[in-house]
Amino acid sequence: MNLKGRHLLTLQDFSREELTLLLDTAADLKRLRYRSELGTSLLGKSVGMIFERPSTRTRVSFEVAINELSGDSLFLSSQELQLSRGEPIADTARVLSRYLHGIVIRATNHEHVVELAEQSTVPVINALTPMYHPCQALADLLTIKEKLHELEGLKLAYVGDGNNVCHSLMLSGATMGLEVMVATPSGYEPNLKVTKISRARAEENMSKVEVTNDAKAAVQDADVIYTDVFVSMGQDKERAKRLAEFLPDFQVNESLVKLAAPHCIVMHCLPAHRDEEITDRVIEGSHSVVWDQAENRLHTEKAVLALLL
Ligand code: CP
Ligand code: NVA
Repeated sequence: MNLKGRHLLTLQDFSREELTLLLDTAADLKRLRYRSELGTSLLGKSVGMIFERPSTRTRVSFEVAINELSGDSLFLSSQELQLSRGEPIADTARVLSRYLHGIVIRATNHEHVVELAEQSTVPVINALTPMYHPCQALADLLTIKEKLHELEGLKLAYVGDGNNVCHSLMLSGATMGLEVMVATPSGYEPNLKVTKISRARAEENMSKVEVTNDAKAAVQDADVIYTDVFVSMGQDKERAKRLAEFLPDFQVNESLVKLAAPHCIVMHCLPAHRDEEITDRVIEGSHSVVWDQAENRLHTEKAVLALLL
């Protein structure tokens, strides 16, 4: 199986075997952190990282990943590129492809990333758009597999906003045979097209994807409870309205966790807003795996770079 030259935009076009290869490679890279034979896979290669939004984990984990694979990274703030003065995305893509071996981009508009990929002759990796966060989902799957030893047949309850993180988790989780239950307030359900594709994926993999407005029902006997912020980047003006609609029913707190399986793990992509989508006691409590989950961004990103570039 060869993933060289592929873009990573949504994970939708990755088969179960391809996702398994990415996760197994990440696990090996983690086990052999400074000893892997992939440690020189980016030697002589340069990766550009365009960020139109802030980032802690994604930026730092990608920079360290590129460094540990012996490559060079260039951080390209969108404000400093001619893009900010109206140079077309297509022209930017064609020019950057002549210099770089891969482009990582966090963008305010998913269609811009699609256009960049269409015009780029080197792999484009989506580092978050308002629609998808595929690199996060890979780290999430690796973490679940590490903690619970398998993916197939497990029940994951996503509680909160039907956002980018939720979409990528639905698509990749369903592909890997996870049962995905999504609970959101009415009006904040995941995108219908993504739900339809995830359901088709689930059917092919003997699993299911369900969307409900009842958080308590969703987490019943769940192996994994997952949440993300109620107010994503770019939504700050909706903050008061969203908090009023999400709280208290969609907060991951101790009484919600009690409804899940006793061995359940609690996940959050971070950054977290304590006592909004998750209580301080739960994120700091014994079910929480958020720090290992954050660490796994590094290992899955190394796998993505080593296999795609
Ligand atoms: N989870 C995640 O993508 O975090 P950053 O926004 O800090 O990159
Ligand atoms: N849904 C969040 C994820 C941050 C990593 C956002 O888009 O802001």
